[in-house]
Amino acid sequence: MAIKVGTVFNYLQLPNVSKFAFVINKRQDGTLIQKGLFVYTNSSEGFLIGTIEEIVLLNEYFADALTIKAFNNNNNPNILKGLFPSDDFEFAIAIVKCLGLIIFKDKDNQEIVRVQRMSYPASPGKEVYMVEEEVLNKFLGFDSKAGLNLGRVKVTNSEALVNMNRLLNKHFAILSISGGGKSYLTSVLIEELLIRNKDFGTPSIILFDVHGEYLYLKDIPKFKDRVKIQDISYFQIGVPKLSAYSFKKYQEQISSVQLRELSKYIKKLRKEKQKKNQYSLTDIIKVVEEETDGNKSTKQALIGWLSELERLTLFGSQENPSLDKVVNNQEITIFNFQKEVSIRKKQIIVDYICNRLFNLRRNDNIAPFLLVVEEAHQFCPEAAHSKAISKPIIEMLAREGRKFMACLCLISQRPKKLSTTALSQCNSKLVLSIKNPYDLKHLMDSSEAITKEYANIISSLGVGEMLLMGNAVNYPVFIDVRKRKFKLRDEAKSLAQFCLDWQKKELI
Ligand SMILES: Nc1ncnc2c1ncn2[C@@H]1O[C@H](COP(=O)(O)OP(=O)(O)OP(=O)(O)O)[C@@H](O)[C@H]1O
Ligand SMILES: [Mg+2]
Repeated sequence: MAIKVGTVFNYLQLPNVSKFAFVINKRQDGTLIQKGLFVYTNSSEGFLIGTIEEIVLLNEYFADALTIKAFNNNNNPNILKGLFPSDDFEFAIAIVKCLGLIIFKDKDNQEIVRVQRMSYPASPGKEVYMVEEEVLNKFLGFDSKAGLNLGRVKVTNSEALVNMNRLLNKHFAILSISGGGKSYLTSVLIEELLIRNKDFGTPSIILFDVHGEYLYLKDIPKFKDRVKIQDISYFQIGVPKLSAYSFKKYQEQISSVQLRELSKYIKKLRKEKQKKNQYSLTDIIKVVEEETDGNKSTKQALIGWLSELERLTLFGSQENPSLDKVVNNQEITIFNFQKEVSIRKKQIIVDYICNRLFNLRRNDNIAPFLLVVEEAHQFCPEAAHSKAISKPIIEMLAREGRKFMACLCLISQRPKKLSTTALSQCNSKLVLSIKNPYDLKHLMDSSEAITKEYANIISSLGVGEMLLMGNAVNYPVFIDVRKRKFKLRDEAKSLAQFCLDWQKKELI
């Protein structure tokens, strides 16, 4: 049964189309009325849902300065209180921001047909009720049957069962200051995808793990078979998969004349049947060296650039791991970048993997996937001067991936440094605490749903508190991110404990 919380009344200029006020019923059953609570009233258009935006306590008795003076002058205010029951004059009112109308299919309010905008105010005198969990889930766009449980909705404390299709398909970004809980939230999301019922359909996950934070997943018995770790030290780019243009991408100094020459040599190698399309960068260099005609200095320069690339020890005759094999439904492949320090090398690898995955997916050769990019500002920065090799492909994935069921999740602690093109394509945003005013402004610029009011709340969020907004939900909603079900070994260890462990190690 619906819990009644108050009655709509006229207060200042309210009710109007976007707001109404109600007098809060004296608490009888311990139901706590709080800011942020979802309530509804029957307006002439249907079920009008809103959230409590403000609570005001009024007491007519204390509205007059003279009374307060008399109250304070008396040596024993309790006597006065006995004479005048000032507490009885106190009442609380709530100001509600209207969110929308629910139109039900039938009279018993079971099936929601649609949610629409309101065009007429609530009626004074009408009762106000708390929104029941089931209705709220439908109203917010949660998926009670197969949703990803990311935590609990603030105030109402109901489970936040985010619809997977809505969250993943139009890309999403996880943003906060360092230590705000982005990686934690990501692992909660990964847990949800890995334990999701098989019959519901779940994409493959590919994750670029810059700090080795997700390797613990492999140690969890339940996930053992579904987690694959690929150490970047063993990563090999398959040279036969690269066009001459890709080499220019990785080695900017290659001129257009050299590029033309290079594509000639690559064509020649591809024709060599005995190589079976398995040639390496050394083979290309050899062909250039052996070629008798052509401009000598062009060749020399080209050899120089290619040798420099060769020294990165990234280019082999075959790709390793084979990217068409690593993408499997409901499995996660973690590319561990922990030991790699060269940002250029990291960007080349990310560029290669993204290009390959995108092409494979476009031709329907691999399963639909979710690509999670940690520290996305390193791979897809905004500033024109920090030219990142991997930026164009990430922007392309952000723009076009959706059509091919290639989903993108960008994680960053500096939204301002992240490409606006990529960020604005991330339709859903999971925003944890952000304090930096420049980052907040950038976020407001990239998403019109983030108003000044939301920006203020975002800056005051604590660790593990997030605002979910965009395509994943019908209305922005604040969520307490749940605890991980499966724990990282060192999670509870403090800095002091790490120091003590180190001391012990030194003694040995
Ligand atoms: N929902 C949560 N519940 C409990 N603890 C949390 C939660 N979210 C974050 N934490 C704690 O906060 C710490 C920092 O979180 P996390 O490593 O996810 O931050 P981050 O945003 O990824 O930081 P960085 O940008 O530096 O990578 C974690 O070690 C964890 O203990
Ligand atoms: Mg992190």
